[in-house]
Amino acid sequence: MKRVAILISGGGSNMVSLIECMTGDHPARPVLVLSNRPGAGGLAKAEAAGVETAVVDHRAFETREAFEAEMDAQLRKAEADFVCLAGFMRILTPGFVEKWRGKMLNIHPSLLPKYPGLHTHQRAIDAGYIEAGCTVHEVIPELDAGPPLGQARVPVLPGDTAEMLAARILPMEHKLYPAVLRRFVEGVRAPIGLSLAADTPKKVEP
Ligand code: GRF
Repeated sequence: MKRVAILISGGGSNMVSLIECMTGDHPARPVLVLSNRPGAGGLAKAEAAGVETAVVDHRAFETREAFEAEMDAQLRKAEADFVCLAGFMRILTPGFVEKWRGKMLNIHPSLLPKYPGLHTHQRAIDAGYIEAGCTVHEVIPELDAGPPLGQARVPVLPGDTAEMLAARILPMEHKLYPAVLRRFVEGVRAPIGLSLAADTPKKVEP
């Protein structure tokens, strides 16, 4: 059985979808939820799900390297085989990323390579694209640039605000990340795609 650690900074809705998928015949189990923010809402959800939690508050460290060394120690202590970034809002140094290279995934709310970084939903709307979505990718030192392992697409609708688009994309994140994680743990590296249309029941005319 493989051991998965999940890194969060916030509400942890993706974390919940990952924890929930790792049951039954799944080849992995969640062994640690680690937050850099003591107040992250996801911590209570992880505890409620019976998953061990840890806080490594980045503000308590003088350097990024010292902060990451403590995170790395926690991950090793938990004997994690894989690390999933799920709304983890600290940029990781190349040194940390190299330690977990090939074993670390991230979810990003855009169709990478479009819109790495922040404010992805507004940027997609401003650019006038009819489609947006999310990407799960392997983490490499360059931000949001690792090989994509899965993408889910949703339409951008007329009048969409960033909040409306985010609310359409987030449920797809919750489907995509578990689907990619399972394949990743099983050693599959070919990317997959999901689309909202494929998932939405067709309206049957009477
Ligand atoms: C998600 O949109 C994720 O793609 C982005 O941050 C958000 C985290 O949401 N990186 P949650 O904490 O998983 O609810």
